[in-house]
Amino acid sequence: MSCRVVVGAQWGDEGKGKIIDILARDADIIVRYQGGNNAGHTVVIGDKEFILHLIPSGILRKNKLCVIGNGVVVDPEALLREIGMLEEKGIKIDSNLMISESAHVILPYHKVIDKRRGAQIGTTGRGIGPCYIDKMARCGIRMIDLVNPESLKKKLYANLEGSSEFDAGQIYNEYLEYGKKVKKYLANVSQVLNKAIVKKKDILFEGAQGTLLDIDHGTYPYVTSSSATAGGASTGTGVGPTRIDKVIGVVKAYTTRVGEGPFPTEFEKVLMEKIRTKGREFGATTGRPRRCGWFDAVIVKHAVTVNGLDEIVVTKLDVLDEMDKIKICAAYKYKGKEYKDFPADIDILENCEPLYEECGGWMKDTTSVTRYKDLPGNAKKYLSRLSKLLNVKIGMVSVGSKREQAFRI
Ligand code: IMP
Repeated sequence: MSCRVVVGAQWGDEGKGKIIDILARDADIIVRYQGGNNAGHTVVIGDKEFILHLIPSGILRKNKLCVIGNGVVVDPEALLREIGMLEEKGIKIDSNLMISESAHVILPYHKVIDKRRGAQIGTTGRGIGPCYIDKMARCGIRMIDLVNPESLKKKLYANLEGSSEFDAGQIYNEYLEYGKKVKKYLANVSQVLNKAIVKKKDILFEGAQGTLLDIDHGTYPYVTSSSATAGGASTGTGVGPTRIDKVIGVVKAYTTRVGEGPFPTEFEKVLMEKIRTKGREFGATTGRPRRCGWFDAVIVKHAVTVNGLDEIVVTKLDVLDEMDKIKICAAYKYKGKEYKDFPADIDILENCEPLYEECGGWMKDTTSVTRYKDLPGNAKKYLSRLSKLLNVKIGMVSVGSKREQAFRI
């Protein structure tokens, strides 16, 4: 048995959905612990593509319990839509889904506020930040309140007192209906998970977004509002850190980010288009084109440190198949000084010059490679250079979107 945490080690969209789906084969329980439906985890099974925003990616495997922890913010409307989408595709959602009674609820005003104020950060507009603001301000509404009419009314009316923009009565009725529909999924998740650990069940924690979007360790203020790092798995589920056995980081063989914020290794236009097209780099949640750049070892080294990564999984290696030269940023230069470690000062990140190492490309199709030893020589050299710079072992490599296109090292 083991408790493993999977986190994004860049700015999200590293391919966590696919990796979770692979690792979920050996897991009993798959748990989301932070974020909400701002995430977009893509899993391809045969000729079917699933994009999951809120429900853990393990739902696509039979006989797995999928859990939404207290650290997640839940939009009930989006949740029910996702359940409907999965059921339409033949996946039954019943006792295989459990939601923490303590998870906070995204309300219509959170979405409106997010759309109004989030442009500077380039948020997904799903109401994530404003919902976490209410949580921290101790006026949030939790899933348990949806099944307690008195409590829901009291809190909702207090939050909307004096508002001419939102109709508390209408929201109350709408959310009471959601409460009836989600009641069967609600549980004391911390108790369930800790009992499962005693019974030696295998638990997989599915991080959303990525380390550089973490509220504490990311490129603040260009971050999301939750703890996307491994520590979030404990606070976001009520499973103590001593119970966690392994932390796995997922990285793309290059870098992408959606939304605003510093990105030292961002490509210029021609390369940007080339990689964006080849890697199909468009947001799974908002459809926005992702910004693309070279692999930045400074940010990933930071992710290795703050998550305590035991190993990394490198995804989308095949996207670099047609590059004759590949760069890795090993340090930043700013005002004559070299930075090998991630700087907290956003000004450095925005204005530094990335210092690159250059590797030879392999100019060969890797999409059908199924064993590490069959990778082209330069691809192996590239991976081993990454591993050396990051001082962490590479546990798995992915060379395409399908389940079969991944192998362990
Ligand atoms: P929010 O999470 O909607 O508040 O957005 C804050 C920042 O995080 C924006 O730059 C978003 O583009 C980014 N973001 C949020 N969720 C994801 C994700 O799942 N993948 C990549 N970026 C994300």
